[in-house]
Formats: sequence, C-alpha cells, structure tokens
Amino acid sequence: MAKKIGVIGSGSVGQTLTNGFVKHGYEVVIGSNNPASREALKAKIKGPARIGSFEEAAKFGEIVVLAVKGLAAEPTVKALGAAQLKGKTVIDVTNPIADAPPVHGVISFFTKADESLMERLQRAVPEARFVKAFNSVGNGLMVNPELPGGKPSMFICGNDKDAKDDVKTILAQFGFETEDMGDIEAARVIEPLCILWCIPGFLSNDWMHAFKILRKA
Ligand SMILES: NC(=O)c1ccc[n+]([C@@H]2O[C@H](COP(=O)([O-])OP(=O)(O)OC[C@H]3O[C@@H](n4cnc5c(N)ncnc54)[C@H](OP(=O)(O)O)[C@@H]3O)[C@@H](O)[C@H]2O)c1
Repeated sequence: MAKKIGVIGSGSVGQTLTNGFVKHGYEVVIGSNNPASREALKAKIKGPARIGSFEEAAKFGEIVVLAVKGLAAEPTVKALGAAQLKGKTVIDVTNPIADAPPVHGVISFFTKADESLMERLQRAVPEARFVKAFNSVGNGLMVNPELPGGKPSMFICGNDKDAKDDVKTILAQFGFETEDMGDIEAARVIEPLCILWCIPGFLSNDWMHAFKILRKA
C-alpha cells in the first residue's frame, strides 16, 4: 500500500484529509498554487506534512487526492496531465457545485443528470485511475467520525479494481464502511448525494450527519 499522498487543494477538505493521513502514518504533501493559501496552511496543517504547489503535491503522491473547487477540477487535472497522474490512484473528493445560491436548501450542479464530473476528469487524463470517495460527507466527519450509530457508509466508484482497493484500505483506516457502487458511471448518482447531504445544513445548520446503508443480516 502506497504511503506517500499528494493532496491537491488547500481548503477545508484538503486540510482535513492531510491531517487524517498524517494521523494514520502517511507522508503527505498538500498543494496550493496560491502563495497566500500556502502561507495560511502553515497554521492549519499538523505534524510533518509539507506544503507545495499542486504540481509538487501530485509529483510526490503515489496516491493523489483531488480536493479543489468543483469548477476548477477539470482545468486542474488537465494541467497536471498524464505527466503527474499516469498510473496513480486519484481519490476524487470534488463535487460539481455551480456558483448559483441554494434554492430552499438545494444546491445546483453544473453537470447534467446523465453525466458526472469524475467521468469528465477520467476522459481528461485516461492514464489516471480515478476513484470517487469522501464527497458525500462533510469535512467535519471525514476522519474517524465515531458516530453513535456506528460506522457511516462511504459510496465509491471507479473503473480500476486496484485503485478501489487502495481507497477501501484508506476508508477502513478513516472509520468508514465502503459501499462499492461499481464503475465510473455510478459517479452520476454518488456526486448528487452531496446535494441531499447539504439540505439539513442549509435549512437547519445541521452539518454533522453521514449516510449509512442498513442491511438485514
Ligand atoms: N467542504 C466540505 O465539507 C466538502 C465535503 C465533500 C466534498 N467537498 C468537495 O471538495 C472540494 C474542496 O472543497 P473545500 O470545501 O475544501 O474547498 P473549495 O473552496 O471548494 O476548494 C478550495 C480549493 O480549490 C482551489 N480553487 C478554487 N478556485 C480555483 C480555480 N479557479 N483554479 C484552481 N484552483 C481553484 C483553491 O485554490 P488555492 O489553493 O489556490 O486557494 C483551493 O485549493 C470541492 O469540490 C467540494 O465540493 C467538500
């Protein structure tokens, strides 16, 4: 299992997952292309994680985490290209959230129902091995959430079995039960879980919840 992680994105998700990977013994470089964001990261990153550019983080990572604003995901992945991402597991945390404000708590996506952002990313860099994960829970519960109802479910998908095995190992360490929804087209339904997840937040300021599949034994 690869132990070097490159995190692309300096927001709440990039910071949270960086600190989570450090906690679980990984070496991490977190990336931002903005000098002010890199400076701000110094106070927010715990332990031995290092700070660099998007390219430096991607180059370092044997596994790469994509955690940029949804509208920036495709250009970011295109800029990194096969040069930085070829053969790597890329954990795609992004959601295709449009800039429009929520309507009665319901946010808008810039993708249509029969496509997903991750399919666009996979098409942009076919040599990378994208796996959707961590997009259907808030950053406050991304690392060992320890909820009273037990381990939450994390829905994943992607075309590469070995890449999904990498992500399943990470999700087990981070305190989730993996629900593997199959190939990349499942991102068309995993990404919109974010819309549902956000509604209690916008309507009632309730952001501390997670999805769980319940099964009859
Ligand atoms: N917040 C959550 O709880 C949560 C949960 C699940 C999934 N997500 C998804 O995870 C992703 C990251 O979310 P976030 O809340 O951490 O922060 P965010 O504000 O959505 O993204 C921050 C990152 O995006 C980069 N960025 C913004 N505009 C850009 C542009 N035009 N070109 C290049 N990079 C740009 C920022 O660059 P700089 O480093 O240069 O500032 C920063 O690294 C999003 O896709 C979001 O939908 C968020």
